[in-house]
Amino acid sequence: MLRTKFTELFHVKYPIMQGGMQHLGVPKLAAAVSNAGGLGTINITIYPQLDHFRKALQEMNALTDKPYAVNISLVPDLDMGEKIREYIQICREEKVQIIETAGRNPADIVPDIKAAGMKLIHKCTGVKFAKKAESFGADAVTLAGYEVAGHPGMDEVGSFVLINSVSRAVTIPVLAAGGIADGRGLAAALALGAQGVVIGTRFVASEECIIHRNFKDAIVASAESDTITCQRSIKNMARYLKNETSIKVLELERQGATLEELMPLISGTNSKECYVSGNLQGCVFAAGQSMGLISCVKTAKEIVDDMVHEAQEVLSGLNGMNQ
Ligand SMILES: Cc1cc2nc3c(=O)[nH]c(=O)nc-3n(C[C@H](O)[C@H](O)[C@H](O)COP(=O)(O)O)c2cc1C
Repeated sequence: MLRTKFTELFHVKYPIMQGGMQHLGVPKLAAAVSNAGGLGTINITIYPQLDHFRKALQEMNALTDKPYAVNISLVPDLDMGEKIREYIQICREEKVQIIETAGRNPADIVPDIKAAGMKLIHKCTGVKFAKKAESFGADAVTLAGYEVAGHPGMDEVGSFVLINSVSRAVTIPVLAAGGIADGRGLAAALALGAQGVVIGTRFVASEECIIHRNFKDAIVASAESDTITCQRSIKNMARYLKNETSIKVLELERQGATLEELMPLISGTNSKECYVSGNLQGCVFAAGQSMGLISCVKTAKEIVDDMVHEAQEVLSGLNGMNQ
């Protein structure tokens, strides 16, 4: 057992959440994580049509009777505007228990989420944002450190400081995201005051993830230094695998490219096609520094079990030092 405030409040066995992942957060992976005792997550942005989204939730409900989350990404290129309320209504009807928001302050949709009786986890990148989330009613916050896949904060603060400082600043459970791929990382996050961890890259390199094998093999083959951060110029910083496309994005930014000029390279449509075809160089691919800690593809259950066992060993070892 690894019981924390997060596992108690969200009724999950282990303090491990699979973070929302554009194009990849589908029932096959999310259900495998939830059935393994973690918290799986489905992304609404994968389902631009409401009836497809409802079918995905129904599929999820058939695959697991455990809690899972639905990710609502509110970054500028994924924000659905007012239509989001219809998605929340479907979540309510299909008995979703947890919403994960990310990308901007979701205060405008918090009343909808709360009225539906769902718990809210808000992903953010610093103390002031976490305090704000607590004040508008979030039940937990995820802190994305600089190591994270996807969108780290513009302030570039790493997980070590972020988790420690935010855990002291808010009373709601804090989840650590970025740089965590094994039980050592989980134990370290708990030691810093986190009540759980949010993991992306490690779950991409799982058997159940629907991405082409080339991307999983790239994660296994990559070192911690094989990522780059781009999109600072458009105030939407992102950490990607270092490949031809992300290097090109960075070069264009240095030459003063506009958002319109960058869009063909950073758009989700581009990534979606490459994730299916296996074209590793043809798109930006969100991947964290935690790639350096990943040495094989495993099932989601093996990932969760191994993390928990290793964390327990680490915690016992640390306890042994305190004699
Ligand atoms: C391929 C991929 C796509 C992602 N897409 C999203 C997304 O759409 N929305 C979101 O909130 N986070 C997204 N993330 C971030 C994850 O939810 C999580 O915060 C992050 O992966 C944790 O860092 P780690 O990869 O080092 O474990 C994505 C991550 C990956 C690897």
